[in-house]
Amino acid sequence: MPTNANSTTSPTPRDATRRGFFKSSAAAAGAVAAASILVPRVHAAGGDEIKVGLVGCGGRGRGAIINALKADYRAKVTALADAFPDAIEFAKKTLAPQAKEQWAVDDDHCYSGIDAYKQLIPEVDVVLLCSPPHFRPAHLEAAINAGKHVFCEKPVATDPAGVRKVLELAKLAEEKKLNLVSGLCWRYDVGVKETIQRIKDGAIGDIINIQENYLTGTLWQKTRQPQWSDMEYQLRNWLYYRWLSGDHIVEQFIHSLDKSLWLHNDEPPKFAYGLGGRQVRTGEEFGDVYDHFSVVYEWQDGTRTFAHTRQMAGCMTETEDFVYGTKGTAKVLANQITGANPWKFQGDKPSMYDEEHRELFAAIRDGRTINNGKYMSYSTLLAIMGREACYSGSKIEWDALLNSPMDLTPPSYEFGDAPAVSVPMPGTYKLA
Ligand SMILES: NC(=O)c1ccc[n+]([C@@H]2O[C@H](COP(=O)([O-])OP(=O)(O)OC[C@H]3O[C@@H](n4cnc5c(N)ncnc54)[C@H](O)[C@@H]3O)[C@@H](O)[C@H]2O)c1
Repeated sequence: MPTNANSTTSPTPRDATRRGFFKSSAAAAGAVAAASILVPRVHAAGGDEIKVGLVGCGGRGRGAIINALKADYRAKVTALADAFPDAIEFAKKTLAPQAKEQWAVDDDHCYSGIDAYKQLIPEVDVVLLCSPPHFRPAHLEAAINAGKHVFCEKPVATDPAGVRKVLELAKLAEEKKLNLVSGLCWRYDVGVKETIQRIKDGAIGDIINIQENYLTGTLWQKTRQPQWSDMEYQLRNWLYYRWLSGDHIVEQFIHSLDKSLWLHNDEPPKFAYGLGGRQVRTGEEFGDVYDHFSVVYEWQDGTRTFAHTRQMAGCMTETEDFVYGTKGTAKVLANQITGANPWKFQGDKPSMYDEEHRELFAAIRDGRTINNGKYMSYSTLLAIMGREACYSGSKIEWDALLNSPMDLTPPSYEFGDAPAVSVPMPGTYKLA
């Protein structure tokens, strides 16, 4: 995503990722060297080498590898898995020079194909799950069944069947005392954490309502190559296929919706209704996803979240969480409160991506467990709830959605035909 010159707010997570280590390998190597000096070696004496494996070697996965290696100097990346060999080759070429002595990947431990995760997971101690969201429940199931600690990117599924599976796996991880850290990165941002805590401690009085804005530009799109089957085309352009990404309300807007859930102590809303559509991204290359959504969520306490997201070029951009209370207003991403108790976060802000991994590896070293399984599942369902409300034009109840049989898994992942797609029409489309 390009940086938005008009944006009035903090960078979005995706902006931050892409401005990170991969701008140039020289800059990246410098940043890692600087981090070696800045990050205390607190875990180095705590135990043996930790083997890290990556499933999904795209932009976020490559970033997560660097975050993991910075977090623990005894961690080594030992295996890579991706649907496509070219993604693995690119990851090797760009990551090895940065990871230096923490790079221990040989060709025998690079696995490609849709089922590549099955070969990688048994070999490592910590798995970073960074493929398109559709695959997350299956990848998480293999990792937790094999007794591995997990870093799990958001969203964790694209349908209610996947969310239910992840909720079960989160319980199993807890029983097995495995760490399960979510990629909902704002939960690890020091400024956002303090802002949310102050709101919960009453700095703006009682919450009246919340407005979530994630109004942004367009994302990448890959031109069709003659040798690609329909399935390969969809996998390479996964953002635009509901079964793979969940649509952009799930894939991207989850970051904002998660903050509304957090402010409601991770208790789900009662219902949602909304409207949305595709007005600009109407071409076949944009699969079956919408380009804008507006959703009203009503919570158990009667407060509401008014949630707007748009991916369109040439429009106003803004990413911010506005929380309106009886004694003031908070802008969560700006880390700012106005009203009766004015405040602005002033401290140092380490990278939230580094923080996720610092906490994960510290917990592993200390024999503690972090389990973000419930909120990462609920935030995913919250986003699916907004999507289904807009697709159908109906009011969607949380319990009905949680129990919905909807399962977007295709009959086969063979590189041939792909699932047929059609754009949902409100008033006609129905939640399964
Ligand atoms: N937390 C954040 O700020 C943040 C930022 C960006 C992306 N993400 C999330 O990270 C995930 C990946 O996003 P990305 O931007 O890296 O996308 P990407 O397209 O750059 O990378 C995805 C990779 O997964 C591979 N892949 C596809 N199917 C696979 C399979 N079955 N097994 C293994 N690998 C497979 C693809 O070939 C690709 O290399 C998504 O869930 C996305 O929402 C999170």
